[in-house]
Parts: sequence; C-alpha cells; structure tokens
Amino acid sequence: MNNHTPVIAIDGPSASGKGTVAERVAAALGFRYLDSGVLYRVATLQALRRGAPLEDAEALATIARDLEIAFRDGKLWLEGEDVTEAVRTEAVSAATSRVAASPAVREALLARQRAFREGPGLVADGRDMGSVVFPDATLKVFLTADVATRAERRHKQLMEKGMCAKMADVVEELRQRDARDSARPVAPLRHYPDAVFLDTTRLTIDQAVGQVLAWYRERAGA
Ligand code: DC
Repeated sequence: MNNHTPVIAIDGPSASGKGTVAERVAAALGFRYLDSGVLYRVATLQALRRGAPLEDAEALATIARDLEIAFRDGKLWLEGEDVTEAVRTEAVSAATSRVAASPAVREALLARQRAFREGPGLVADGRDMGSVVFPDATLKVFLTADVATRAERRHKQLMEKGMCAKMADVVEELRQRDARDSARPVAPLRHYPDAVFLDTTRLTIDQAVGQVLAWYRERAGA
C-alpha cells in the first residue's frame, strides 16, 4: 500500500458509539470520515429494492460494485434519492449483517472504502478497518461498551426518531447482530491484536474522543 495519508481505524460492535466518536475525532483533526457500515447498508437497501435473493453472492457483489452513491450536504444519496433514513431501518440493519457476511460483497466494497483515503487524513469506522481495509493505519482502536449500555444508547436514538421499541427487543436484536458479525468466517467482528481497546461503558463521548486524540497524537508525534 503506497499511501502515506494517516488513517485512524475505529472498529467495534453496533451501537458502541464508535460512529459519533469517529466523526468527532475527524472534525477535531480536519480529517475525512468514512462510515463503512453505511456502504454495506446502502448495498443491502439496493438489493432489497431489486428483489435480489440475499443468498445470491454474485448478484449482491454486482449490486455493491455498481452502486451509484454520493455523500452530499450531510446526506447519503442513492441514484439521486436521499436514502439517509431508509438505510437505518431495523429491516435494513438485520439484512445488512447477512449481506456483509459475503466475501464477494466485502471484496466489491474494498476499493470504494480505500478511495476515501485522502489528505490530510482519514478516520474510518467499521468492523475491519484496521484488520483488512487499512492494515497500515497509524492508530487502530477497538471501541466497545457492554451490551446493556449499547442497548440503552440505541433505544434512546430510536425514541428520539419517534420510533417505538421495547428495550428487551433492542437487546435481543443487538445480541443477534453481534453474534452474526462475530461468527462469520471473513473479517469477523473481533478485537484484533494491534488495536488498542477502549471500553466506553463508563465514559462520556468527550472522554472517548479525548482518549483517541491523545493516542493518535502520541503515535503521530503531533
Ligand atoms: O456499523 P453499522 O451498524 O452501520 O454496520 C451495519 C452492518 O454492516 C453490521 O451488521 C456490520 C456490517 N459491517 C461490516 O461487516 N463491516 C464494516 N466495515 C462495517 C459494517
């Protein structure tokens, strides 16, 4: 990999707060931000809309490769349509963890993710940012929180969006998604050895952001 643009990779499970932390770290450093999960989500949305069977790896990979998407005005556009909300529904979330288990889909999205690496730097969040997509990242963080805390955060988010959800269902859904994301043979959700572990269960967002920035500055000698 012949690109010296610094990358901070932040991996971890659903609803751990890694997206918020990654976005704030990127803003503090003036870096670009990649939410890799949204690429898997939009590929899944397109597959559902096209009626592609979720077990047809080749059809899914073709859809993922040919996606016509743009990030503009803080929104995600698919073929000119604002799909920011549409990719966040529970149905799309559940289907995405199945689609993301396909090696062909992961391969199809690789170049698209690496294209985000542009100066002055990139903060990327997902499951395999440090292990597969940016193995030479300057800093790799595995960010998590216990399942009860993550369920509370997710539940609060859903309520704020006016969506009703029972706490027990949210916990169950998170457990199922964690299990699927961790059990897949390709790029599973896992604390890989060269990532520093950050448990945010008892941390505020500011504290988590401060810790990642401190680690980065230490590594980068900045
Ligand atoms: O981070 P998220 O909840 O938006 O991710 C949605 C799904 O995509 C989740 O099931 C895990 C998967 N994913 C992945 O396999 N690899 C990534 N780099 C990011 C997300």
